[in-house]
Amino acid sequence: MPHPIRLAINGYGRIGRCFLRALHESPLRHSFQVVAINEPADLDSMAYLTRFDSTHGIFPGDVQQRDEGLVIDGVPIHVSHAREPEGVDWAALDIDILVECSGRYGTRAELERFLAAGCPRLLLSHPGRSARDIDFTLIYGINQHALTGEERLVSNASCTTNAVVPVLNQLQQAFGVEHAFLTTLHSVMNDQPLIDGYHHSDLRRTRSAMQSIVPVATGLAQGVERFLPALAGKVQAKAIRVPTLNVSAIDIMAQLSSDADGERLHALLRTAAQRQPRLQAYSDAPHASVDFNHDPHSVVVDGSQTRMNGPRLANIFIWFDNEWGFACRLLDAVQAWSALFAPHAEEAPEAALRHG
Ligand SMILES: NC(=O)c1ccc[n+]([C@@H]2O[C@H](COP(=O)([O-])OP(=O)(O)OC[C@H]3O[C@@H](n4cnc5c(N)ncnc54)[C@H](OP(=O)(O)O)[C@@H]3O)[C@@H](O)[C@H]2O)c1
Repeated sequence: MPHPIRLAINGYGRIGRCFLRALHESPLRHSFQVVAINEPADLDSMAYLTRFDSTHGIFPGDVQQRDEGLVIDGVPIHVSHAREPEGVDWAALDIDILVECSGRYGTRAELERFLAAGCPRLLLSHPGRSARDIDFTLIYGINQHALTGEERLVSNASCTTNAVVPVLNQLQQAFGVEHAFLTTLHSVMNDQPLIDGYHHSDLRRTRSAMQSIVPVATGLAQGVERFLPALAGKVQAKAIRVPTLNVSAIDIMAQLSSDADGERLHALLRTAAQRQPRLQAYSDAPHASVDFNHDPHSVVVDGSQTRMNGPRLANIFIWFDNEWGFACRLLDAVQAWSALFAPHAEEAPEAALRHG
């Protein structure tokens, strides 16, 4: 039987742990194995936060510590605690992909330190500083077919880009988009303090995450333009952190190039969901964000919130689990990429891809 693809995780925070768990909860666990984790935190805390998760619940498996590493359902994972790429002997770990989830490395020069230190390939859980800093930026469902297998630095874009690009793309193809304004309502993240505290570069991130609605900077407009060049210069975005633990939303305001109405918009977005049921969903039930906790889709369109102001100004509301949905897309990315550079690796049946 072909050997499993060997993965490592750098940065075992929210996304690093969700990625490990998404793999564990998927039949893909037979084809892919996390063999190493590098995280500055101590092993006791890593094991504890693997077992107990306030957002996604108790880990559905056995988590143990042994010989300075983790053992999950009997499978050992090498653990290191370096803060520099050169602090780990990546070559000795014989990995196929390092899933970089620390978010600390954005430029090509920074990322190439991992390659020089023995990592053959990196999959990033964030966009590169610019398109030139990585070999390929992936939104699964949009452009995975353009991967070649020759890349060494692949970015999985951001959770917001994964959610909004498919919907904007569908609007653009059906009606044309003259301009769009995107307002992200994003749950709190670990770069915000629980109560007011210092932040080295961003005054807004000094404010208590649980006390306020906090506007923050966002690169979403540039992220969208990387995928939809027809919209270059036509998209503006802002992001607002809200005091919830997980699940986010984007309010899309789109000036269309041709006339539409609510029914035609819904027919378009419902059909898109039927075409890619693993990635996109549609609902017109009266939802609250918590309904989508642990939801594996990149995006769920909320049909109950669609509004038209005249025939061409459309307002569409979408939900996404910023942690779990994105972790499931990282897993899709690993599978699509490794099928190209290691086509001998065991294939999981398509039906088995229902993560979550
Ligand atoms: N959370 C989301 O919803 C989400 C969704 C999509 C993408 N992302 C992206 O994913 C990345 C991680 O986000 P997150 O929410 O998982 O953050 P997080 O919870 O803060 O996790 C990051 C982890 O990486 C560790 N770390 C810091 N520097 C490191 C280094 N040099 N080497 C190895 N590990 C290091 C951190 O330790 P310390 O805390 O000790 O520094 C922390 O444990 C960010 O780029 C973020 O934008 C996040």
